[in-house]
Amino acid sequence: MMFLLILFTSAFLFPSSNALDFCVGDLGAPQDPAGYSCKKAEAVTVKDFVFSGLSVAGNTSNVMKAAVTPAFSTQFPGINGLGVSLARLDLADSYPQPTKFT
Ligand SMILES: *[C@@H]1O[C@H](CO)[C@@H](O)[C@H](O)[C@H]1NC(C)=O
Repeated sequence: MMFLLILFTSAFLFPSSNALDFCVGDLGAPQDPAGYSCKKAEAVTVKDFVFSGLSVAGNTSNVMKAAVTPAFSTQFPGINGLGVSLARLDLADSYPQPTKFT
């Protein structure tokens, strides 16, 4: 099975002068285009900065023969507001067409 780790980033392209040290997303609060609002510092835990879902292969038993495992701020609150998100893309050996990522 082919496995690709895709890193999306806009943090380096669009540096923000008002960036905070960290802004762990409060998943209970509504999300706006800039992300979730920040959790109170007292409520932040180590778990907010750990995401182990990318080590688990996605289920490619579907029509697309592919699976995407997102690590966006909804799954990984520690990256909220950083302009960074990750995703794991699994393609089955029988994936219909080799895809070139550039
Ligand atoms: C993967 O998805 C298929 C179809 O939904 C399901 O039958 C199968 O049990 C799933 N496999 C795993 C390992 O979850």
